[in-house]
Amino acid sequence: MPERRSAVIHPLSREQIRSTLDRYFKSQLGVCAALEDIADSLPNNFSRNNCLLTAQRIRQIIRKAHIFEEDYLFPLLLDEAGNQPELEPVLARLRAEHCEDESFADEIVDALEELATVGVSNIDKLSYMLRGFFEGLRRHIAFEKEHLLPLLTQKGTPA
Ligand SMILES: [Fe+2]
Repeated sequence: MPERRSAVIHPLSREQIRSTLDRYFKSQLGVCAALEDIADSLPNNFSRNNCLLTAQRIRQIIRKAHIFEEDYLFPLLLDEAGNQPELEPVLARLRAEHCEDESFADEIVDALEELATVGVSNIDKLSYMLRGFFEGLRRHIAFEKEHLLPLLTQKGTPA
């Protein structure tokens, strides 16, 4: 697994972290919506161009969103988790989900590019893959919004 920690983490305010997270959540949910549209358009009504654009968006967004969370949000929450030791395993699980989602995202990108260029023989498998990916990503984001963002809002350091 590639090492991807930044060499230098510049401090961000709580509000900068929150607004950046909101942007990444929206971007990722936009990718989910695009993937759902593609899944719904199979087998005959999909746009090749849309498949390629969505594959590109996946490349641009997913990994960056994860790195941001792991470099800024998770360390801040852990620093403040003195009275919540249960937070550490939760964040470890979310990190593991990031890794799984990134591997899955690579497969989705390959599948979308294949669909756009040469077509796919097993449409049912592709549809299942796409739905598995965007449904899992939506669940992950919903969990983070519900359980992590309130911690970011409540805790100590000023925005
Ligand atoms: Fe996440």
